[in-house]
Amino acid sequence: MIMKLVLLWVLGLWSVSGIDLSRSESFLSYLDEEVTMSPGSTTTLIVPLTLIQGAASKGAVCLDGTLPGYHLHRGFGSGANSWVIHLEGGGWCNTIRSCVFRKTTRRGSSKFMEKSINFTGILSNKAEENPDFYNWNRVRVRYCDGASFAGEGQNEANKLYFRGQRIWLAAMEELMAKGMQNANQAILSGCSAGGLASILHCDEFKNLFPETTKVKCLSDAGLFLDATNVAGGHTLRDMYEGVVTLQGVQKNLPSTCTSQKDPTSCFFPQNLVSNVKTPMFLLNAAYDAWQVDQSLIPSLADPHGLWRACKTDRSHCNSSQIQFFQDFRNQMLDAVKIFSESNQNGLFINSCFAHCQSERKDTWYENDSPRIGNKGIAVSVGDWFFDRTAVKAIDCPYSCDKTCHDVILK
Ligand SMILES: *[C@@H]1O[C@H](CO)[C@@H](O)[C@H](O)[C@H]1NC(C)=O
Ligand SMILES: *[C@@H]1O[C@H](CO)[C@@H](O)[C@H](O)[C@H]1NC(C)=O
Repeated sequence: MIMKLVLLWVLGLWSVSGIDLSRSESFLSYLDEEVTMSPGSTTTLIVPLTLIQGAASKGAVCLDGTLPGYHLHRGFGSGANSWVIHLEGGGWCNTIRSCVFRKTTRRGSSKFMEKSINFTGILSNKAEENPDFYNWNRVRVRYCDGASFAGEGQNEANKLYFRGQRIWLAAMEELMAKGMQNANQAILSGCSAGGLASILHCDEFKNLFPETTKVKCLSDAGLFLDATNVAGGHTLRDMYEGVVTLQGVQKNLPSTCTSQKDPTSCFFPQNLVSNVKTPMFLLNAAYDAWQVDQSLIPSLADPHGLWRACKTDRSHCNSSQIQFFQDFRNQMLDAVKIFSESNQNGLFINSCFAHCQSERKDTWYENDSPRIGNKGIAVSVGDWFFDRTAVKAIDCPYSCDKTCHDVILK
């Protein structure tokens, strides 16, 4: 059965000052809920929020000045000294206005964070849901800075703290003290804006550990492309330019990129992934649902609604619209070409309209989860991490894949 998650994703998200990402945040929580409440699901693991008490003295605070936090579930047995660090996603803020708004949400303040959350997918503690990582120490680091854990600065007038990089460091320091320093293997993962963060911080993460520790990184739905929208504009680049400039991201971007390109370009994975030294796995839908909705066909770029039916349901697309999506997929494949030539890297680019497939029970490791060839996502990531086999899985183009769990945009 192909399970389709209907998504009430209200269009018209654009404000004059930029993207209102509050809607895409509720999108993610809606999906979580849908998954945990799906029939057949047994008891869900619920993990409490821990605030990082030592963070304030380091200035490592959320947008509103509150303490950042994480959820940790301890590993056991053979996984007791292994760690999965998963960086939460949830868009970005690129203007004073959108960052001020964000302070009133869980993406900008720990005052509004859930006090406990469900651990599913790569964070599940059940072997039958998460075969390779279920008994590892598993951590979800909350995202409350709005710049993929990479900003540095503040805005006095609006009481905004741009401290993503400090939050990253404070979280790693705390987790090292809680036992991660003894890790014999570790994986830095993340989804969406957290998937971008796992690319940005991958080598820093590796450098926390001795050479003998096996360290790799997984980026899920983090391949945000510098693409052209249906009206010929550059929505995501314009937004990223705001994020990078407002939040002081430049100094935390890899110098291998910033010595060659402008800082905004260096926030795009296509200009980063081939320079990451640590082994990395890129998991992404070729027609990433968030990018389709917010970067390729934002409502401002489709004022007459000519794309609305097609965006919602591909069976309503004409041939040139399908071609537009295929061009986007080709850009994604180009973006990972050099990356994929390295033996240490892994790839799973499935031809689905999805977003974040490692956190969800239904896409990670169920009988009807998405597959390329005959292999699903959890097994692909495990095969790559443990060097069981090389994984360079690129799906045939739409519409050959019948295993997708597509997000339906409304
Ligand atoms: C977590 O799981 C429980 C069921 O175990 C469910 O009632 C709750 O809504 C879930 N919470 C989220 C945020 O998905
Ligand atoms: C497909 O639809 C778009 C939007 O309505 C239109 O501009 C384009 O000409 C159409 N292409 C074909 C081949 O019908």
